[in-house]
Amino acid sequence: MAKEIRKVGVVGLGAMGAGIAQLCVEAGVDTVGREVSMDLAEQASGRMGHFLTRKVEKGQLQQDARDAAFARLSLTTDLADLAGCDLVIEAIVEELAPKQELFAELERTCAADAVLATNTSALSVTEIAAATSVPARVVGMHFFNPAPLMPLVEIIRAELSSDEAFDTAFAFAEKLGKHPIRCHDTPGFVVNRVLIPLLNDCIRVLDEARVSVEDLDAGMKYGAGWPMGPCELVDLVGIDVHVHASEALYEKTREPRMAAPPRLVAMRNAGLLGRKSGRGFYSY
Ligand code: 3HC
Repeated sequence: MAKEIRKVGVVGLGAMGAGIAQLCVEAGVDTVGREVSMDLAEQASGRMGHFLTRKVEKGQLQQDARDAAFARLSLTTDLADLAGCDLVIEAIVEELAPKQELFAELERTCAADAVLATNTSALSVTEIAAATSVPARVVGMHFFNPAPLMPLVEIIRAELSSDEAFDTAFAFAEKLGKHPIRCHDTPGFVVNRVLIPLLNDCIRVLDEARVSVEDLDAGMKYGAGWPMGPCELVDLVGIDVHVHASEALYEKTREPRMAAPPRLVAMRNAGLLGRKSGRGFYSY
């Protein structure tokens, strides 16, 4: 049975965490956002405030509802402030060791029945859960970028997830207005298992077919109905994030299509990370 969620913690307020926190406050849930410094936390809340204001300007949200939503967000650098949360969603750096360390700490901080969810895109939820003494309460809640706009959330059952934790995460994604789907903890889950090698194929085609970036994007938009082209999409996701996810999936599956194309690795190494760095396949 799903447990009622009155208060949520979001750990890590980068693009994904801030988007998730924005969804929570818009859904009427008190939310504690945790970052490593108050500076980073305030930058994230500034971005959330901006997107909420844009919704008001476009007539999608009333001003008082915007202000009430924004007031539901509190910021902290102290994990102890997550003690009263019924659900904590982790969206920190995509590395196993820091995630495991965080989950072990969350277990010490949060109530025994709090559900602990990871937004990992390519790591194993089961391996993250293994850092806790009660892995039954750990599940995956994988949001898509940009989280406030993309309807899907994958709800991932790790080897030892309890039905209660799984159902709670599923019901909470519905409360956020999302379309959750259920799956088991396998490399890339559902969408990234398909999308990551597909995007890697697209980038390889750039060199093989000697097509321009603009024409490849036009090809997939106008020939396959994609909402944005593959190069625009990799720029949006972040070239470092995409390369990292590719490497994680390649390590687990050994499928050549999962490996990041050298062109993307070179871009990552040169600091061409897409929208967030101002330059990737396009300039911003
Ligand atoms: N947070 C909150 N609001 C945002 C936002 C964000 N990050 N980004 C944009 N918005 C708001 C803005 O206010 C914007 O309005 P404004 O420009 O007037 O201020 C509004 O959303 C609408 O933005 P757009 O006009 O750009 O909206 P579009 O209709 O063009 O749709 C899109 C944008 C939804 C991103 C669409 O292009 C799309 O669906 N693209 C595909 C995205 C995709 O495939 N994502 C999945 C990536 S894979 C992934 O995430 C997995 C991970 O594990 C790697």
